[in-house]
Amino acid sequence: MEAKKTAKLSFDGKEIELPIYSPTAGPDVLDIRKLYAQGDVFTYDPGFTSTAACDSTITFIDGDEGILLHRGYPIGQLAAKSHYLEVCYLLLYGELPDAKQLEDFETRVTRHTMVHEQMHNFFRGFRRDAHPMATLVGVVGAMSAFYHDSLDINDPWQREVAAIRLIAKLPTIAAMAYKYSIGQPFVYPRNDLDYAANFLHMCFAVPAEKYNVDPILARAMDRIFILHADHEQNASTSTVRLASSSGANPFACIAAGIACLWGPAHGGANQACLEMLKEIGSVDRIPEFIARAKDKNDPFRLMGFGHRVYKNFDPRATVMKQSADEVLDLLGVENNPLLQVAKELERIALQDEYFAEKKLFPNVDFYSGIILEATGFPTSMFTPIFALSRTVGWISQWKEQIADPQMKIGRPRQLYLGETHRDYVDIENRG
Ligand code: SDX
Repeated sequence: MEAKKTAKLSFDGKEIELPIYSPTAGPDVLDIRKLYAQGDVFTYDPGFTSTAACDSTITFIDGDEGILLHRGYPIGQLAAKSHYLEVCYLLLYGELPDAKQLEDFETRVTRHTMVHEQMHNFFRGFRRDAHPMATLVGVVGAMSAFYHDSLDINDPWQREVAAIRLIAKLPTIAAMAYKYSIGQPFVYPRNDLDYAANFLHMCFAVPAEKYNVDPILARAMDRIFILHADHEQNASTSTVRLASSSGANPFACIAAGIACLWGPAHGGANQACLEMLKEIGSVDRIPEFIARAKDKNDPFRLMGFGHRVYKNFDPRATVMKQSADEVLDLLGVENNPLLQVAKELERIALQDEYFAEKKLFPNVDFYSGIILEATGFPTSMFTPIFALSRTVGWISQWKEQIADPQMKIGRPRQLYLGETHRDYVDIENRG
């Protein structure tokens, strides 16, 4: 990168010149890498709201304009015209595939969907009522105990195999976590089904009878996968990058990302959002919850609203809302009480000056939970579905970072406000 201009920082009699780089899109960045050496100061940015931790060519978000691009392609076009495995190819390799490349990629993923048979034993060690995210973190991390031929991050071929294995096996593991939680037998993947249909089949088929995947539900599932595929340097992706910077193996890094995604402020919001809609229960109780969300003394927040980056609207929520209408029409539950509460909550919230002032709009999690519940998933499966969708984003960012010659172990500093030096006091002299 070449600095086209610089910034001058003057303090304590020092003058430091810092390079400024211009991106292909988004704000310029100030390179502060020499600041500590030249100025003996750290920057301070808890939550990294103003800090670029890396450069990337994968995803671009403009929060004010509600823009989300994957390798330059708008999310609305990808959701309308593409399908999840094609978006996976785009995120991984940077370009849309031609017919042969797509066929080869889909065949490779399809042929990696089974897990090592011994991994079935892992599930036996969990309680049946374990949250599927707990199971997912454990089993994905344990993949490094099985797939020893794709652990060496310095071997491009092993990185490639690890990426394909993770994209292929996450749906199988998530479906196994679900089946285990309801006491039903695991259902093996089927190579004659596409990615989304295969996942629905592994979740809802039983050995006792034939299960036909509804193509509209499969399309809605595929669209949910696309809408959650990647989102630049969000909390879980940053976790994967930081874990990867130590040289940890890909399965350990993705398990770390799953653990971070679980939080209700992040990927856990879709489960929390649906539980909130159920707690609201009816349209006439919405004002009570809006008041709670505005009350500084009440920790309650409207789950599914707000975003660290989007301060206008989340373009994924727009597509998700269309999908929700289609799925619920198909299932004949367009009068779903939860959807009525959700639509009325959105209407009221967007009229309220608090939400306008705080720039709080429905995010990707607001409608996804309604689709997933209508499709028959329990709320505990919402975040595992987010995790399996986001695996391609995590692994694409992981590959990008490892291939970056500038990569070094991540090691933030701190503003220390604790005790300065003091000597040990023997217990008889304390108090
Ligand atoms: C995801 O980063 C990503 O890209 C994430 C994600 C991805 O694809 O990876 O997009 C997925 O995580 C979407 C977000 C899902 N989370 C939720 O829906 C949970 C509810 N939302 C909030 O927790 C919150 O909005 C965050 C965490 C999403 C964003 O928080 P910010 O931008 O750090 O904003 P903030 O917490 O500093 O809040 C700013 C103000 C505060 O009021 P003041 O202190 O200024 O008076 O807005 C208020 C907050 O109290 N506020 C809310 C609110 N969100 C923020 N008030 C009520 N309800 C909310 N949902």
